[in-house]
Amino acid sequence: MEKISVAEARQAAAVGREVRIQGWIRTRRDSKGGFSFLELNDGSCQGNVQVIADATLPNYEETIKHLGAGYSVTVEGLVKASPAKEQATEIAATRVELHGTADPETYPLQKKQHSFEFLRTIAHLRPRTNTFGAIARVRNCVSRSIHNFFQEQGFLYVHTPIITSSDCEGAGAMFRVSTLDPEKPPRLPADQGGKIDYKQDFFERPTYLTVSGQLQGETAACALGKIYTFGPTFRAENSNTTRHLAEFWMVEPEMAFFDLNDNMALAEAFLKRIFSDVLKDCAEDMAFFNLRIDKTVIETLQKIIAADFVRCTYTEAVDILLASGKKFEFPVSWGCDLQAEHERYLTEEKFNAPTILYDYPRTLKPFYMRVNDDGRTVRAMDILVPKVGEIIGGSQREERLDVLEQRMQEQGLDPAHYAWYVDLRRYGTVPHAGFGLGLERVVQFVTGMTNIRDVIPFPRTPGNAEF
Ligand code: 4AD
Ligand code: MG
Repeated sequence: MEKISVAEARQAAAVGREVRIQGWIRTRRDSKGGFSFLELNDGSCQGNVQVIADATLPNYEETIKHLGAGYSVTVEGLVKASPAKEQATEIAATRVELHGTADPETYPLQKKQHSFEFLRTIAHLRPRTNTFGAIARVRNCVSRSIHNFFQEQGFLYVHTPIITSSDCEGAGAMFRVSTLDPEKPPRLPADQGGKIDYKQDFFERPTYLTVSGQLQGETAACALGKIYTFGPTFRAENSNTTRHLAEFWMVEPEMAFFDLNDNMALAEAFLKRIFSDVLKDCAEDMAFFNLRIDKTVIETLQKIIAADFVRCTYTEAVDILLASGKKFEFPVSWGCDLQAEHERYLTEEKFNAPTILYDYPRTLKPFYMRVNDDGRTVRAMDILVPKVGEIIGGSQREERLDVLEQRMQEQGLDPAHYAWYVDLRRYGTVPHAGFGLGLERVVQFVTGMTNIRDVIPFPRTPGNAEF
């Protein structure tokens, strides 16, 4: 007797094996012929395995005939070829052991369909549904693909800190980390301004949850060549949208001796690799998303893999938007931040393809991006995709000491506070570049799920941190 997964038990190759499978009942149906059909799922795949439990089993009347949705069981039996055309196999049970019941009066996951809004309120149980099981498997596949892509190309996986004292993106949207008593924090004497005395805090300075591992990633790239980080990232923006989380996972490769073109080529190859791995390794789940969530996801991914991404400067994009004749809610002019409606026009109407926008106005982007010779733009790139919008943000970094210090001053940052970062330009500086990919945005894009809260197990958004 061998313990196997439902995914394995569903394969024709399993026929003839005596197996043990363990999972949760989705449904039970009793036949007039004196036996019951149990649909069993263990999260290993989208489909269930059908178990046939005969009335001759010793616990048939007392247990098996009462099994219902959400009950957990161990089943032992023989895998047989199934006469039904929906499935290759079924299991003729020789033993069914009950582990836990689930009261049908209160267990929320009965057979009927639930809205995603409702399922968010039972985030602890939603992985047991078809959709959330599929999302978990696709998310895993994307994570594996990320590591495989970089590992195969000789990138080192480095770990950057979660707690930091620097604001990488310069947006100030950071969560404070402190052990001071918020009721009565220690204060500087009144004659010194009476402000909170962070010298008495745990790290003896103000600290925050990181908004990006990039700055530390650059220190690694400027010694080790090609690196990537992959970890949780925090943004305290009060954005209640379908694309923003307060806690999300970001992958950030950083490469010494890469310019912006190298960076774009890497990002494009990287996304295509993720998309083709998902189509190949999660075929059953992708068929489900294509059927139930968005009828275009598979075709869209296939088309993207086969074609080149569009590359377009910010300045060209502004001209295209101005010439579009469209009435946008936010009017467009050179120097304005592009809004979701503008990004959608470019990726969905104009190009209908992933689009790499680059060379943005210096005023719109953080201090670390390399200033172009025109003095007005920086070597930034954003990759936009239909529906989701920005999926990647990156740049070539400013490697010139004087220009970097000037940019920091321009943005009100004290170079002394970033001395370690500035040192990279003082000692053996090199051209380098990198980008950040939001894991949840990719999962959203490949699955067609419209709300980012549904592609992370426990979403953190303004007002929500229950589970
Ligand atoms: O464009 P962002 O802010 O870039 C950086 O943080 C750079 N330091 C990255 C780098 O060059 N190493 O964020 C990068 C990506 C975005 O394109 C988006 O996919 C995702 O991170 N992202 C978010 N995802 C979910 N919720 C949020 N609030 C996000 N903010 C950014
Ligand atoms: Mg960005």
